[in-house]
Amino acid sequence: MEEITIPLLTPYKMGKFDLSHRVVLAPLTRQRSFNNIPQPPAVLYYSQRTTKGGLLISEATGVSDTSQGYPNTPGIWTKEQVEAWKPIVDAVHMKGGIFFCQIWHVGRVSNYGFQPNGRAPISCTDKPLKAQLRANGVDVAEFSPPRRLKTEEIYQVVNDFRIAARNAMEVGENSQTKSMASQALKELSKKLRMHCPSSCLVLLFPLKPS
Ligand SMILES: Cc1cc2nc3c(=O)[nH]c(=O)nc-3n(C[C@H](O)[C@H](O)[C@H](O)COP(=O)(O)O)c2cc1C
Repeated sequence: MEEITIPLLTPYKMGKFDLSHRVVLAPLTRQRSFNNIPQPPAVLYYSQRTTKGGLLISEATGVSDTSQGYPNTPGIWTKEQVEAWKPIVDAVHMKGGIFFCQIWHVGRVSNYGFQPNGRAPISCTDKPLKAQLRANGVDVAEFSPPRRLKTEEIYQVVNDFRIAARNAMEVGENSQTKSMASQALKELSKKLRMHCPSSCLVLLFPLKPS
């Protein structure tokens, strides 16, 4: 019988990034970023999961004050949030990790309580979601009826992603990542123009190649 080798611990070239192995930290929402600001314990959390040349993807990180739908998840749209990410990213880079920031907008997976001035969550549809059991198996997430964005409002969301991506790159202080970022933004704009039915948009941005 032919022997199958699983190359988990062999290097992998991912675009401009040379990963030393193929074990990746999946994005995991932690809900420890009080007031949407990453907190100091995240320095330890992410650096403990860093290996030299290993890829980490951050927990989903909001692009704007309308993007939130879960308690205490981080953002990257304000100066304070950007500053709070810096020591976390530094700690990962110190250990030689490659860190991508997952940026998102939850769309209608939200309710009035998460939205600025208690407004309706924004989405591509005005159909509300049914209440769902949260991942902890105890709490029930309630969703408010969303407001369907007008076509001309979509550009604001695209711009929020653009700013968040720039902020992530600022944290990573690396200009090499810009072309990847702009390509991803083009894809996003295309999706939005097609009125993508998904309510949750996720983009990945490298904070800095090692
Ligand atoms: C507690 C928890 C939080 C998660 N948070 C995110 C997230 O922020 N972004 C994301 O894209 N996926 C998130 N996921 C999905 C995981 O990244 C992963 O794709 C999923 O657990 C499937 O992988 P598995 O089959 O190895 O469990 C989360 C999963 C769990 C269990």
